[in-house]
Amino acid sequence: MDHPLQSNYTVDEMDRASHLHPVTSIQMLEEHGPTMFGNASGVTVEGPGGVSMIDFGAGLWCVNAGYGREELIAAGAEAMRDLSYFHCFGGASNAYAARLAETLLGLLREKAGARHMSKVFFGLSGSDANDSAYKLVRYLNNLRGKPQKKKFLSRLGAYHGLTYAAAGLTGIPGYHRAFDLPQNDVIHLACPHAYRYAQGEETEAEFAARLLAELERTIAREGADTIGAMILEPIMGTGGVLIPPENYLRGVQQILKDNDILMIVDEVITGFGRLGSWFGTGHFELEPDIVTLAKGVTSAYFPMSCTVISEAIYDSLREASPKTGSVMHGFTYSGHPVGCAIGLANLELMAREGLVENAANAGPLLVQRLQERVGDHPFIGDIRGVGLMAAVELVADRETRRFFAEGQEPHKRLAVQAMQEGVLVRGLPFIEVVSFSPPLSITDEQITEGVDRFASALEKATPALEVAARA
Ligand SMILES: Cc1ncc(COP(=O)(O)O)c(C=O)c1O
Repeated sequence: MDHPLQSNYTVDEMDRASHLHPVTSIQMLEEHGPTMFGNASGVTVEGPGGVSMIDFGAGLWCVNAGYGREELIAAGAEAMRDLSYFHCFGGASNAYAARLAETLLGLLREKAGARHMSKVFFGLSGSDANDSAYKLVRYLNNLRGKPQKKKFLSRLGAYHGLTYAAAGLTGIPGYHRAFDLPQNDVIHLACPHAYRYAQGEETEAEFAARLLAELERTIAREGADTIGAMILEPIMGTGGVLIPPENYLRGVQQILKDNDILMIVDEVITGFGRLGSWFGTGHFELEPDIVTLAKGVTSAYFPMSCTVISEAIYDSLREASPKTGSVMHGFTYSGHPVGCAIGLANLELMAREGLVENAANAGPLLVQRLQERVGDHPFIGDIRGVGLMAAVELVADRETRRFFAEGQEPHKRLAVQAMQEGVLVRGLPFIEVVSFSPPLSITDEQITEGVDRFASALEKATPALEVAARA
């Protein structure tokens, strides 16, 4: 029997007619229509015409366990059968949320040395996790009798999401234009990417020192008593897989501590094994006041995020509680039993299959294969990576390190060509970088095959890149 609402349109037609896409050019969509995906398994997903592609993006840096994992599907189905849904407002809870919160704290304490982390607040996206952090810092400083201590520090090139507060913390101009962002309580510092932003003969150490001096100068100018927190990704993802100069992150941490400014570490990408260690916090030996997590916690099988706060923050909230009453923040789906059940199954699967260790072993191979296959190409300026978070940065002239003129977008052309060759990579929105972040379950053979496909795309795109380089 036909579905009562069935129409005669194709799904492409329905999509074009009815779907407002996230981060998509309307003009492009109307011209070319949507690119439909389905039938995913392991590290592959089928694109238009049923063509199998290696997903070197893991969706948006998130399908860490790979596609179609029966354990995760079963865990979700069981929780739906058991409880389906219940909220966590007013002290309500469920066994899945309780267990996942405890498991996450255990992981942060044991695998990242973050013994001071105390409580987990659940949300649904990386953006809302950062919005929750933003609101909690404001709440905390109101409780502390420091209502003026509300500004936020971030960095150019940062990506913290696209809800209103998070989009302001994001430091990529494309996401600000036309939305009246950033808000005037957000200050963006320089981007910590030496390959592009170190000046003249500046060494990496001198570059880091300049960034730290800028941070100190900014705090002195604004007044430490007006700044609530600084937010940072251990390795900036969407900004271009930007690996910070050595000792920079701990230098930042020390300056923030000295000035009573909280540190929010956005681990939405780096959490759960992407760097070949469980968390960026442990990888860089950080002691954040707040950690935000999303994506990999459920390998994206269910929308889920976590804002994890320190014991010191929790103590302030607890002490104030008799006077302030409920913390009036939360979402209908906070602590959703289905998401929490999938999260628990995902973390168990990751540990059982050694996916973090696989990322640590496979990451260097990915970078090595990229170096072998495209490292000599005249438009490849830099190849870099930590664990399975890697990138190539394109340059118009390798010798002089001249970058492409604005608007040329060679990396986006290359990503389109790569899709035609059967590998999904991302052309990022800040600088001319193509990123590689496959599922952590990827094998050595799949890495080699994916890089071969990418190399062939680069070869085919070269004539167009030559034109772009002259512009
Ligand atoms: C570091 C980081 N923070 C926050 C976000 C926002 O997450 P979401 O898109 O789930 O809101 C992202 C998304 O890519 C991210 O990479």
